[in-house]
Amino acid sequence: MKVAIMGFGTIGSGVYKVLTTNEDVIAKRVGEKLEVKYVLDRREFPGEPWEKLVVGDYNIIANDPDVDIVVETMGGVEPAYTFVKAMLEAGKHVTTSNKALVADKGADLIKTARDNNVNFLFEASVGGGIPIIRPILECLTGDVIEEISGIVNGTTNFILTKMTEEGSEFDVVLKEAQNLGYAEKDPTADIEGHDAQRKIAILTSLVCGQQVEYTDIPTEGISHITANDIKYAKKINRNIKLLATSTAVGDTYVARVAPYLLAPEHPLFAVNDVFNAIFVHGNMLGDGMFYGSGAGSLPTASAVVGDIVEMAKHKNMNIPLEWKSEKKELADSSVVESAFFVRTKSDKDAVKSAFGNVEFVEGVVDGEVGFTTDVMTEAEYESKASTLDVVKMIRVR
Ligand code: HSE
Repeated sequence: MKVAIMGFGTIGSGVYKVLTTNEDVIAKRVGEKLEVKYVLDRREFPGEPWEKLVVGDYNIIANDPDVDIVVETMGGVEPAYTFVKAMLEAGKHVTTSNKALVADKGADLIKTARDNNVNFLFEASVGGGIPIIRPILECLTGDVIEEISGIVNGTTNFILTKMTEEGSEFDVVLKEAQNLGYAEKDPTADIEGHDAQRKIAILTSLVCGQQVEYTDIPTEGISHITANDIKYAKKINRNIKLLATSTAVGDTYVARVAPYLLAPEHPLFAVNDVFNAIFVHGNMLGDGMFYGSGAGSLPTASAVVGDIVEMAKHKNMNIPLEWKSEKKELADSSVVESAFFVRTKSDKDAVKSAFGNVEFVEGVVDGEVGFTTDVMTEAEYESKASTLDVVKMIRVR
């Protein structure tokens, strides 16, 4: 079978490497050899082994009946969407690692694949190399998924881990992450939570079988987290983690991306550095957790190649996948209950009159106190906190 790779950057070149390094074992599993016939890229790659495979026009791939499977590793919604749609309409299977494309156009591309009796798979779009999408869709299909909470962004997890280990400020560690290649030159999508927002939108769409708009998910990043916040976290024996979380409420879900203070008992407490982990609670399974390399060339390519093999084994069959384009209304996040950790410049009497008796954390930063509230709704918290001079609020799990 012939494969084409659209976009030969970090992930696309990783896919080529996995397919060539593990050529024999993959051929055994598929039952025939897989061969990369085209690489779509603007660059020419002189002297590289794939130089002769490079084309600049996606129509060459779409119009070649020899190509069965196409990999999309370009990133972004356009022109990826136009190219992927054309491939599916031309009767080619497509796998992508592109969360922006899947979050925005997942339902549409799944339908296009079904209409053309091919498959559109996207295991690598969430959690990099960690198997999470197929486990949710297949292994856990007998469960009602009541919660998915993940550390799904390696860049921010690296930054928070280093801030905790070194006591450094956010900007210093961000630079370190950029020097190590863990953060992009423009790090906005990672540090402001937009990447995690798309990933939890994809997972929530899959568990409810309908389109969840990522723009409906309240999202806060980590760029406001300071060395003082980390000092408080240590004082109360917790770790700050950027969670992307989705919880069942009646027949829908409530989702959020935000930094949380986790207790050592929480399964995600010790997920450090660039690693990702996704905690799942099913009504029959109970708790489960998927942990591993959530980004990077070969881990992500490993998941893409897993999809390639799955599609090669279902060459003439659409694997049913429920994700309708009808929009799923998420529950109002102001009714969600949690405890809140607050730093305030208001005095202890003002705190007590707003929140009742709370446990104070003192002596961490001059001129302020910290405290953790009882469990209450977001709306209740907002109303009580409005009487105080709040420096920072971080939710507690
Ligand atoms: N920037 C992403 C991360 C890459 O840091 O996790 C994987 O989607």
